[in-house]
Amino acid sequence: MSTSIHDHKILILDFGSQTTQLIARRVRELKVYCEMHPFNMPLDEIRAFAPQGIILSGGPASVYEKGAPITDRAIFEMGAPVLGICYGMQLMTFVLGGEVARAQRREYGHAGMYLDDITDLFRGMDPAVPEVVWMSHGDRIQVMPEGFTAIAHTDNSPVAAMGDKSRKLFGVQFHPEVVHTRSGTQILDNFLFAVCELEPTWNMRSFIEDSTERLKERIGDDRIICALSGGVDSSVVAALLHNAVGDRLTCVFVDNGVLRAGEAERVIEVFKNHLKVDLRFVPAADRFLDLLKGVVDPEEKRKIIGHEFIRVFEETARSIGDVKYLAQGTLYPDVIESVSFKGPSATIKSHHNVGGLPDRMNLELVEPLRELFKDEVRIVGEEMGLPHELVQRHPFPGPGLAIRILGEVTKERLEILRRADRIVQEEMRRSGYYEKVWQAFAVLLPIRTVGVMGDERTYEHVAALRVVDSLDAMTADWTRLPYEVLAAISSRIINEVKGINRVVYDISSKPPSTIEWE
Ligand code: XMP
Repeated sequence: MSTSIHDHKILILDFGSQTTQLIARRVRELKVYCEMHPFNMPLDEIRAFAPQGIILSGGPASVYEKGAPITDRAIFEMGAPVLGICYGMQLMTFVLGGEVARAQRREYGHAGMYLDDITDLFRGMDPAVPEVVWMSHGDRIQVMPEGFTAIAHTDNSPVAAMGDKSRKLFGVQFHPEVVHTRSGTQILDNFLFAVCELEPTWNMRSFIEDSTERLKERIGDDRIICALSGGVDSSVVAALLHNAVGDRLTCVFVDNGVLRAGEAERVIEVFKNHLKVDLRFVPAADRFLDLLKGVVDPEEKRKIIGHEFIRVFEETARSIGDVKYLAQGTLYPDVIESVSFKGPSATIKSHHNVGGLPDRMNLELVEPLRELFKDEVRIVGEEMGLPHELVQRHPFPGPGLAIRILGEVTKERLEILRRADRIVQEEMRRSGYYEKVWQAFAVLLPIRTVGVMGDERTYEHVAALRVVDSLDAMTADWTRLPYEVLAAISSRIINEVKGINRVVYDISSKPPSTIEWE
């Protein structure tokens, strides 16, 4: 049934832990739909969401602190099983009449845990073998609420996990969502399937069917436009919409003059020729490059490109005629970020690529990916038959190569960077590292250095190579690429790209640096 994927679902209430998003990812990996909301989600909204289970995340607070995030007792009385993790367990204890106290010793890091009950949460696990779990807490359970028994202990915590079987309420002092807790996935699996009796209905095939139906219903006979960037998100949005409404979708692809080599051709090939999407290709390179003349300030470059993009897109959209909707590739992490645990008052993140457009043009926003994580989007793309190469592409910023050319953006410097960048992409793929890293690209520096080629002295540009590992681009570390891969990239760039005689490797992490140089 196409409508069943949201029938089985978990609500995660966020108390501000760094790992709350990980809980959501693990639940999704176990094929159960879940949503994360701030801890103070109103009760009537929780009832309307009708979760079959609730997970209370960890958080930095202490339940007795002034202003600590506390929930209503009613969430434990709705009939849905509840799993409290770390702070969530302490909160459960506090709200249900138990006692929480400062631990004599803060537990942080790995701990050995002994199972005292293997019926529900720890079903199928071996009580003879101590479990390795990840702890991070300063408070502990002194007195359990009425009806609870300890189901696991550590040397430091007599109550490392507790449960009230009749009410299906469970608490764990450790973090099952992190990889350091060895049986973490098994424990979450038990909560979802043994305790909540959910069914694993969430998968990307059913997501495609479900969202196609919903898009058909919502858009009806109206027209929708979508800005294609050549990246994964907008490509998957376009494919989903095309599937749902066929030629009532028009895609707009703007050549802003700062694209990678071969980018425009590739988008036309996939969407126009292969998928037969109504694609408006707008060659506007000169307009953008004229405006960028003489501009060296990074923010100025971003602004110019952003504004001009809106202008071009608006002109094109008007020429298409009666459009009612605008599609956008907002992902779940963007949604979560905009309603952080501080509650809905926290700043809303505006999407940088088409900011301002819907209001100006009186368009309604359609965001078919707002329930998905990036890896889920990639699976959807593969399922829909988009080329593997496109689906696995690294993120590429809206202002494109303009923010990877330090100093002025000129046609000549763009050409140099495009050649170097193509070599980086080729060598990353050849070595098998392309799909292992978050991003890999070249940056053109505004300095020249001396070199020697044959018998001649050269005085040319420097390219910096940036390769990073990351999960969500919020933090990143430079990739420890093997020397051979670095050597291949460097020697090919210096030999094949006229204008570059030196390559350096960027070994900065984010923070304090950023991924892009501008
Ligand atoms: P930074 O440089 O802030 O980048 O560490 C984080 C991630 O975002 C990408 N990025 C952008 N993406 N429009 C985009 O669509 C932009 O203006 C933009 N600026 C940075 C960057 O490539 C990295 O993946």
